[in-house]
Amino acid sequence: MCGIIGYSGHREACPILLDGLERLEYRGYDSAGILVSDNGMFHTAKRSGRLSNLRRAVEEHPLRGCCGMGHTRWATHGGPTDENAHPHGTERVMLVHNGIIENYLSLRELLLEQGYSFQSQTDTEIAACYLDYCYHGDPIDAIREALNGIEGAYAFVIMFSDHPNTLYAVRKDGPLLAALGNGENFVASDVTAVIRYTNRYLVLDEGEIAIVTPERIRLIGLDGCEHHKEIQTVTWDVEQAQKDGYEHFMLKEIHEQPDALRHTVSPRVKNGLPDWTGDGLPQDFFARFNRIQIVACGTAMHAGMIGKSVMEKLARIPVEVDIASEFRYRDPILTEDTLVIIVSQSGETADSLAALRLAKARGLATLAIVNVAGSSIAREADYVLYTFAGPEISVASTKAYSVQISLLYMIAFTLGRARGTLSEEQERSLTAQLLSCEKAVRDALALQDQIEASVRPLVDAEHLFFLGRGIDYALACEGSLKLKEISYIHCEAYAAGELKHGTISLITEGTPVIALCTQTALLPKMLSNIKETTARGASVFVIAKQGETISGDVADTVLPLQDFDDLFMPFPAVTVLQLIAYFVARARGCDIDKPRNLAKSVTVE
Ligand code: G6P
Repeated sequence: MCGIIGYSGHREACPILLDGLERLEYRGYDSAGILVSDNGMFHTAKRSGRLSNLRRAVEEHPLRGCCGMGHTRWATHGGPTDENAHPHGTERVMLVHNGIIENYLSLRELLLEQGYSFQSQTDTEIAACYLDYCYHGDPIDAIREALNGIEGAYAFVIMFSDHPNTLYAVRKDGPLLAALGNGENFVASDVTAVIRYTNRYLVLDEGEIAIVTPERIRLIGLDGCEHHKEIQTVTWDVEQAQKDGYEHFMLKEIHEQPDALRHTVSPRVKNGLPDWTGDGLPQDFFARFNRIQIVACGTAMHAGMIGKSVMEKLARIPVEVDIASEFRYRDPILTEDTLVIIVSQSGETADSLAALRLAKARGLATLAIVNVAGSSIAREADYVLYTFAGPEISVASTKAYSVQISLLYMIAFTLGRARGTLSEEQERSLTAQLLSCEKAVRDALALQDQIEASVRPLVDAEHLFFLGRGIDYALACEGSLKLKEISYIHCEAYAAGELKHGTISLITEGTPVIALCTQTALLPKMLSNIKETTARGASVFVIAKQGETISGDVADTVLPLQDFDDLFMPFPAVTVLQLIAYFVARARGCDIDKPRNLAKSVTVE
């Protein structure tokens, strides 16, 4: 997870690297470092903590030169210290790295025998020294030889002091692209880092080396053959990756949900029905499967839980949802009539990518739901459905979830029709309701001030419960994740009927409970479960449809949502849960867009 930026051009590299790192900081923010080459003289600056620490250091001691690289770190091997900050290496060879070198201990032994010594506790320094060890004057030969000996995941940008204005970039299981400017070129973990300078880029394939100079970007394979590939163009602009007057990216992204939903759903509706031809899916694609396996991590996995509920209900097809890191190591039972759906905002999550590869290796059909175009998962899946949410910068995922579930709903409609559980008329009516979710989310956003005021009693909570039944339980999981990740309040999501089997012992006088009651059919059962908590002193915040009768002895606070079909309630309800998390975290003075210990894109196992 770490962010990488490289620059070779005619301008001073330092400000460009710092600017790129600022945009990549969401990938990790334990430390930051840059290296600038002044005609082969390497100058570095590294600081633990936020990028602002590095900025201050560079202001005091400016680094001059027109070629360089920068790194923002999410610590794996070695704590978040100055010494462990990247770049690492020797006088001849320096590099920045995103990934994990798995055989670093054996490489370390070898290098110690050769007389190398190390300044950090990182696996990256070992890789850099190993590259130095392999270097006999030809950078490509050295990279090729070093990669033969290195095991693990990596995206490297490498500089050799005797090739002063050249960056070498190579990757395996970590994202990296090379971007084309005018008399200047770039390397970056993702395109947000360079979008201010250019919208044209090349995605590096695994085992491909990019040689980046101010004049050109050459791509060569590990076999030495020159590669030529299509230049990709970013369709969004720099404004979309900025806060746009909002205090935080998270709030901006919550508010972008209606547009994101429209952009994702509308192009896939023809004559009032879902149509997948624009995504290149064969006509009868969904009719081929009798089982669905959804695999994802974090918020994307929670979206999968909603997908399961909707698909099973509408299409009567068995759906399993797995956490990618569990799926890949549990030898899953997968029949050949199973469609594996990988859901990922970034398209780079290491465990989700590995799950995709496992499914492919078993010969199964794979479909990816991904937000970032050209990402590894999007490229490797048999088919990809892009969500058009635009860049999501805040570590806490919001709009990505809404668009992910919108596509899972559409898939459910198509499956239902293909399996004969839905008529054309029903499919049409469901599609129309899905299109109207954009408005339901706008209505939920209009409750923002009311939410901000009503969350005050939650701000000082030490722990808190989210309850729900059915689809509301899946929502509770996401609401709980959102709140705990950004506010640091310990939260648990519980299936409301399960609480009494143990967890209710944690409810004492004043324990806050957020109860999701959006499913009219389950409301009486929910009310009984809520009463079980109020009887033990819980203070309950209910989210329910307007007009439902919730008496004052059940709830301390009721947040009323516009009436809408039960099935589609997750769209407005998740918006409310996101706003609850946001306003609680803001009142607690938390660093909302960059919560501690987390990173947006997790490219390590
Ligand atoms: C990280 C992020 C989460 C995200 C998860 C999966 O943990 O902090 O917000 O849900 O990765 O990411 P993906 O890009 O695969 O959706």
